[in-house]
Amino acid sequence: MSIAGNSKKIVIAGAVLAAAGVGMHAIRQKKKIEYDGNGKTVLITGASGGIGKEFARIFAEHGYNLVIVARSLDKLEELKEELEDNCDVRVEVISADLSVADGAQLVYDKVQEMGITIDQLVNNAGAGKQAKVIEADPDTLKELINLNVMSVTLLSRLIGADMAQRGEGRILNVASLGAFIPDPYFNVYGPTKAFELFLTEAMFGEMKDTGVSVSVLCPGPVKTNWAANAGKSDSKMAKSPETIAKAGFRGMQAGKVVIVPTILYKAERLLMKNLPIPLQIKIIQKWQNSLIRKERRK
Ligand SMILES: NC(=O)c1ccc[n+]([C@@H]2O[C@H](COP(=O)([O-])OP(=O)(O)OC[C@H]3O[C@@H](n4cnc5c(N)ncnc54)[C@H](OP(=O)(O)O)[C@@H]3O)[C@@H](O)[C@H]2O)c1
Repeated sequence: MSIAGNSKKIVIAGAVLAAAGVGMHAIRQKKKIEYDGNGKTVLITGASGGIGKEFARIFAEHGYNLVIVARSLDKLEELKEELEDNCDVRVEVISADLSVADGAQLVYDKVQEMGITIDQLVNNAGAGKQAKVIEADPDTLKELINLNVMSVTLLSRLIGADMAQRGEGRILNVASLGAFIPDPYFNVYGPTKAFELFLTEAMFGEMKDTGVSVSVLCPGPVKTNWAANAGKSDSKMAKSPETIAKAGFRGMQAGKVVIVPTILYKAERLLMKNLPIPLQIKIIQKWQNSLIRKERRK
């Protein structure tokens, strides 16, 4: 081959590499994730403790103003003071019970009264209670469904519509690994978390052209008051609430639809998914039973 022929090949190869470089740069630019709030506002439910409190700290560290919601006004006021002292942010507090039918509407109305625009929403408040379905207190069942299903749906509906109208926003629903598996003794909790998973996936599809992302966080056991309140001991494999909130924050800012934090929970999900359902029920029932008995012995 002539020298001219070789040079032509080299020029073409160079052009292809350059184009590929520009392409990669464009992809990298497109994927750049914005973590800083720059004065935007996030509303977090269940921020008085556990994972929600860690979410509040992470958002505040990234410069988001906050509206924090839970029933315990004293704990919310304490957190407001901590965040406003340590970060250059404004924090508003709303004390509300999201286990009552109109809880979410009351929170939304209060935010409207305050004249605040919600740029991001974290539906984190949630609870479970161990009992066989046929022995459970009917009022407790209603409250759990209101808290984990009704309030999450209504806040997503009301705040999500405002976000869509403005053409930007992010919603994160905190579900659980329990969304993927049968959960004896936490028979209503698991399905409420499965509801959050499917609600998120549906909304993600519906809102993909509106500039609003909808994500769901599915952690396994986390070291908070959740297990004791639900009537069981903490699992040995429970992760810290900081780790889980950090994964949720990053995943939601990246616009991921389903976020299963940590390698351990990813592996657990994969393992369980491939087992026959009767075996899944047997394994989970045995595990939950041992944690409930351990709590009773305390
Ligand atoms: N911990 C775990 O092992 C685990 C695992 C997977 C998923 N999750 C999910 O993660 C989320 C956070 O749980 P966590 O572990 O952080 O539990 P947590 O420590 O018990 O915190 C729950 C938060 O929700 C609030 N809350 C509870 N009932 C409420 C109500 N009726 N109205 C308004 N707020 C209410 C609580 O505040 P007040 O009591 O002040 O109202 C608190 O701020 C929940 O959705 C839970 O299902 C937890």
